[in-house]
Amino acid sequence: MKKVLSFLLTTYVSVPVILYLFPWILSHAIFSHLLRFPYFVDLRRPQDVLNHTCNFYLSTEEGVSVGVWHTLPMSQWDAAAGKNLDWYHETLGDGRPVIIYLHGNVGTRAISHRVELVKILSAAGYHVLSLDYRGFGDSTGDPSEAGLTSDALYLYYWAKTRSRGSMLCLWGHSLGSGVVTNAAVKIQEQEGSAVDALILEAPYTRIGEAVANHPLVKMYMFLPGFESLLWNILERVNISFANDKNLKTLSSPLLILHSEDDNVVPFHMGQKLYQISLQAQRESNINTRIQMVSYRANLRLSHSHIYLDPNLSDVVQRFLQNLT
Ligand SMILES: *[C@@H]1O[C@H](CO)[C@@H](O)[C@H](O)[C@H]1NC(C)=O
Ligand SMILES: *[C@@H]1O[C@H](CO)[C@@H](O)[C@H](O)[C@H]1NC(C)=O
Ligand SMILES: *[C@@H]1O[C@H](CO)[C@@H](O)[C@H](O)[C@H]1NC(C)=O
Repeated sequence: MKKVLSFLLTTYVSVPVILYLFPWILSHAIFSHLLRFPYFVDLRRPQDVLNHTCNFYLSTEEGVSVGVWHTLPMSQWDAAAGKNLDWYHETLGDGRPVIIYLHGNVGTRAISHRVELVKILSAAGYHVLSLDYRGFGDSTGDPSEAGLTSDALYLYYWAKTRSRGSMLCLWGHSLGSGVVTNAAVKIQEQEGSAVDALILEAPYTRIGEAVANHPLVKMYMFLPGFESLLWNILERVNISFANDKNLKTLSSPLLILHSEDDNVVPFHMGQKLYQISLQAQRESNINTRIQMVSYRANLRLSHSHIYLDPNLSDVVQRFLQNLT
C-alpha cells in the first residue's frame, strides 16, 4: 500500500518536472497536430466526404506546403462537374462572399464537424476555403503560433487577389480563433483597413487560460507554483494566442458563437471577448456590428457541435448581410 502511494505521488509530482524540462510537450499538446484523424480519408480526394470541392496546396513559406479545400457556393454546384483547379479558382471572383475557415487543434480538415459546417456554409451561398495549418493533415512543416498565423495570412492574401473585392470573412473555431485575431491584427496594420468580417466559434480569452481550465491541468492547479510554471512554459514555447489583447485593436464586424455547456473553452471566455469588443468599439467611436449568439446548455452543442443549430445559416447570413 505504501509503495503504491509513493508511486502515485512520484508520478503526480513528476509531471510538472517533466513539463519544465521538456516544454515542447505542452506545445505538442496544444496543437495535437500529430493526431491526424480521420485516418481513413485521403485528403487529396475531398469528394469522398464533401461534394463540389477541390484540393490544392499553397507554399506559404520556403519548405512549407499547406493543404486547402475549396468548397463552392450552391450557385456553382451544377456547373462544377468535371471542372479543373483553374476553373475553381476563377469562381472566387463570382461575387459571392468567401469564408476562410481556420479549424481548431487535433485532426485534419476532414473531421466530420468541420465538414458538416462547410456543407452548411456552402449551401448558404458562400465559398469556403478550409486549410490544414503547417504540420497538420498532409501539410508539411512544424506548427508554431507565428507559423499558423502566417499560413492563414498567406491564404487570405491569396484569396484576396482572386476574389475581385468580394467580401472575405475569417472564421476560427477554438484554437483557430487565436489564429483569426492574430491574422486580422496583421492585416489591419498592413492594409490600413479592417478585415470585412470575423466569426469566432467557441473562442478563448488567451490559450493559457483555456489550458489552465483543462481537467488534466486542473488537477495540478493547487500545487504551489504550478500556474506560474504553466505561464513560464508557454512563454518559453512562444505561444500566447491572445484574443483578449487582439480584439482591443480590431475594428472588424464580429460574430461570436458560444455554447453555455462548452466543456473545453468555458462560455464565460466568449462573453468576456464580447465585452472587450463592445468596449473597444465605444472607445474608438466606430459603429461596427458586434454580436454574440449563445446556445443554452440544454441544446448540448458543447464545444464542437454548434453546426447542429438549425438556424446557423440564418444567423451567419443575417450577420454578413449589408456589411460593406
Ligand atoms: C455528393 O452528392 C451526391 C448527389 O447529390 C450524393 O449522392 C452524395 O452522397 C454526395 N457525397 C457526399 C460525400 O456528400
Ligand atoms: C515568438 O512569436 C512571435 C510572434 O508570434 C514572433 O514574432 C517571434 O519571432 C517568436 N520568437 C521566437 C524566439 O520564436
Ligand atoms: C431559430 O429561429 C427561430 C426564428 O427566428 C426561433 O424561433 C428559434 O427559437 C430559433 N432556434 C434556435 C435553436 O435558436
